[in-house]
Amino acid sequence: MANVSGASTAFASDNTAPAHPKALEALQRVNDGPAPSYGGDPVSEQAADALKEAFDAPNAEVLFAFTGTAANIIALAAAVQPWQEILCSDVAHVLVDEAGGPVRVSGAQLTRLPSDDGLISPDELSPRAARRGDVHNSQPRIVSITQSTENGRVWTTPRIAEFVAHAHANDLLVHVDGARIANAIAALDVSPAEAIGSADVVTVGGTKNGMLFGDAILVRNPEYFAGIHFVQKQIGQLASKQRYIAAQFMAFLEDDLWLRTAAHANTMARKLGDGMAALGLKLASPVEANEVFVILAPDIRRAFAHRYVVHQPDPTEQVVRFVCSWSTLDSDVDAALTTLSGLL
Ligand SMILES: Cc1ncc(COP(=O)(O)O)c(C=O)c1O
Repeated sequence: MANVSGASTAFASDNTAPAHPKALEALQRVNDGPAPSYGGDPVSEQAADALKEAFDAPNAEVLFAFTGTAANIIALAAAVQPWQEILCSDVAHVLVDEAGGPVRVSGAQLTRLPSDDGLISPDELSPRAARRGDVHNSQPRIVSITQSTENGRVWTTPRIAEFVAHAHANDLLVHVDGARIANAIAALDVSPAEAIGSADVVTVGGTKNGMLFGDAILVRNPEYFAGIHFVQKQIGQLASKQRYIAAQFMAFLEDDLWLRTAAHANTMARKLGDGMAALGLKLASPVEANEVFVILAPDIRRAFAHRYVVHQPDPTEQVVRFVCSWSTLDSDVDAALTTLSGLL
């Protein structure tokens, strides 16, 4: 579908995709008479169990939220006291795209660590942890990483395992922003548990993967997140009709639909990236999940923008982001490549 100026939003974000028919079917299925509210319904329980099973985390707690931003805020704010510190990468969504929400709700400082496309070196952690104890410094408590990253990269299994082990050795909890966790799992062809290492809390994206709305929070180590249900309620994310979020998760976890939709998005991104490279364009990051970052000269970008809405993460750079989704068609990719080719 195009935006008001007629430009296509096919690659603007995975949020521009329509809801998957299975999500709509799931809503219809649970739309049957009264059910307990605020998560007391059987569908919420079943969806929580399905998520725990998928992530091999039988002792986890599961909460649901309407958006990925809310899920991140709930997870992070429950982990810290106002004098503590949240660490994240320099491109983290929690840092640059949530309007300061995690800081406002938690009261804690958010500190950026240098990264390679959102992949943080474990060596960055010890110097921060060494500042602990001094009353003049915010006290590092949790590090947030994103899988797949904001720049479309994936943490490989050994890499995330090493990072999480290093964080834990430095007394830091680990939060995984999994707005696109399914894309990472599908790309790596590993189990969901392997894709998050031994992280303490993970947000599981639903909206970007084809749901109408809904992201989950899987708390693998609930003892470190006391009060998380109160944070969820305080910020208005305890849905009274939670069954409609939960039902979509059930539908997506069934038969691995969540991984099939993600794998399709990844395949489309690879095709798009390969096609751009074949046109002589330079990719700014390797295509590892469902996003493509390409360098477009300003005149090409401006001309392209008349036909397609695409995000420029940093207006001072020439990098443009294309995102593929469960609904991206081969013909969408071909059309975008033809448009680009005509402009070069
Ligand atoms: C990595 C990442 N985390 C979290 C979010 C937040 O999702 P929402 O827009 O549903 O709040 C996004 C959305 O773009 C994202 O890209």
